[in-house]
Amino acid sequence: MLAIIGGTGLTALEGLTLQDSIVMETPYGVPSANIEKGELNGSPVFFLARHGKAHSLTPHSVNYRANIWALQSLGVTRIIGVNAVGGINASMGPEVIVIPDQIIDYTWGRQSSFSEEGRVIHADFTYPYTEELRRQLFAAANKVSVSVCDSGVYGATQGPRLETAAEINRLEKDGCDIVGMTAMPEAILARELDMQYANVSLVVNMAAGRSEGLITMDDIQRVLDAGMGRVRALLSAVVA
Ligand code: HPA
Repeated sequence: MLAIIGGTGLTALEGLTLQDSIVMETPYGVPSANIEKGELNGSPVFFLARHGKAHSLTPHSVNYRANIWALQSLGVTRIIGVNAVGGINASMGPEVIVIPDQIIDYTWGRQSSFSEEGRVIHADFTYPYTEELRRQLFAAANKVSVSVCDSGVYGATQGPRLETAAEINRLEKDGCDIVGMTAMPEAILARELDMQYANVSLVVNMAAGRSEGLITMDDIQRVLDAGMGRVRALLSAVVA
C-alpha cells in the first residue's frame, strides 16, 4: 500500500476520490492531520498533509514519528514524500523536479528515531531512498513526459528560517544540490520501520545568495502554482 506525504503546496491530493478520513493515535502522539484514504487514478492510496491541513505546523514541530507510525499501522509499505526546496546547484533552478538519491542531515533536536532503551536500532542508511521506488518514479515521469533530475543531495536544515548565504556556500561545499527542512527525520523513520521511501522535491526558489535579491514568499508561491501540477501528474502516474 502506497502513501503520499504532501508538503508545502500539496496539502490536498487533487484527484483523490476520498473514501475515509482517519483519525489516528499512536504511542508517539497524533499525526499532522487525519489520514485520507481514497483512490487516485483507480489505485488505493493514503494521503497525509505533513504540515497539517491548514499548513500550521512548522518543519521542526511536525510529529514525524506519529506520522510514520500511523501510516505503517494502516498497512502502508511505500511512502513518497513531496517537498518544496531551494536550489543550490545551478542546474536545479525554480520549477525543476528532483528525485534525490542522498541526504545530509543538519537538523537538530527532532525526535528522529524509534530507538529506545531496550530497543536500539542501528538502521543501515547508506542509501537513504529506496532505489526501487525511485525507479518507479522515473518510469512514471517518463510515461507522463514530466522531466525530472534523477539524482541529487538533499541538505535538510532546521528552519523555519531560511539559510544565510554563507550557510548555503557551506552546504554546497558539503555536496548538497538542494535544501529543504523536512526530509529528515522522515526518511530514517521510514527506514527504521522497513518501509520503502522516496522523495519528490520541487525547487521553488534559488537558495540564499544564489540569485539577485531576497527570497520572497510571493515568488515561492508563484513557482508552487506553476510547478505542482507536474508533481501531481507524476504522482497520478506512479500509482497507476
Ligand atoms: N531553504 C530551505 N528550505 C526551503 C527553501 C530554502 O531555500 N525553499 C523551500 N524550502
